[in-house]
Amino acid sequence: MTGNLKFWAVIPAAGVGKRMQADRPKQYLELHGRTVLEHTLMRFLDHPQITGVVVALTDGDPYWQRLALSHPKLMSAPGGEERCHSVLNALQVLQQRATESDWVLVHDAARPCLRREDVDRLIAALTDHPVGGLLGLPVADTMKRTDAEDTVLETVPRDNLWRALTPQMFRLGELAQALESALKKGQLVTDEASAMELAGKAPKMVEGHGDNIKITRPQDLRLAELYLAEQD
Ligand code: CTP
Ligand code: MG
Repeated sequence: MTGNLKFWAVIPAAGVGKRMQADRPKQYLELHGRTVLEHTLMRFLDHPQITGVVVALTDGDPYWQRLALSHPKLMSAPGGEERCHSVLNALQVLQQRATESDWVLVHDAARPCLRREDVDRLIAALTDHPVGGLLGLPVADTMKRTDAEDTVLETVPRDNLWRALTPQMFRLGELAQALESALKKGQLVTDEASAMELAGKAPKMVEGHGDNIKITRPQDLRLAELYLAEQD
């Protein structure tokens, strides 16, 4: 069943990085010797099981052009208004060369510290799964729910609560369909699993590592630097 199935990667990289407050989109900031985006792309371009990588980019992105990257596995797609649109555009590029039942790993450009072992673990855990799933991390802190004035209403039991990370791995055809139908309903889903859930599917959670952070705010860059140095 898994014989001819291929694995592809989609990297949404068309965000502006507003919360990072830098002079350029955060995926183009320098980190441990190269840009954030180059670190992220190498994770997949170097992976022997990944057939091809589609990166979603802002139209005419001058930072991308300056990088002048070329690699036989690398393709690009136009970015969209929100992350979900960028991912869908990349899936449509893939649909021109992949099979509907091929697996796609969608991974944020802003997560450059992803470990090879986490990619391997995700693929191994899900290859024979009917739906697919995602990397996640069990929440460690005590969880509170507040009202609009930040007054604590209750403590939320943290059993079975996870933070959703990426990569998120689903079948090309099913994922494209799920995203299209979520968008049609006006739901701007923030991850692929949400789209699959809306379509009535039950994704599998696979435990990853905490160093797979999403660079979001200025202080995250230093943390990512530490993680990458440690991984060397
Ligand atoms: N992304 C994208 N297209 C968009 C918005 C986001 O491809 N229209 C990508 C980002 O480049 C990033 C990933 O989706 O790699 C996760 O999004 P996020 O961390 O929110 O990045 P930004 O939207 O760039 O940051 P911010 O929300 O602070 O503006
Ligand atoms: Mg964003």
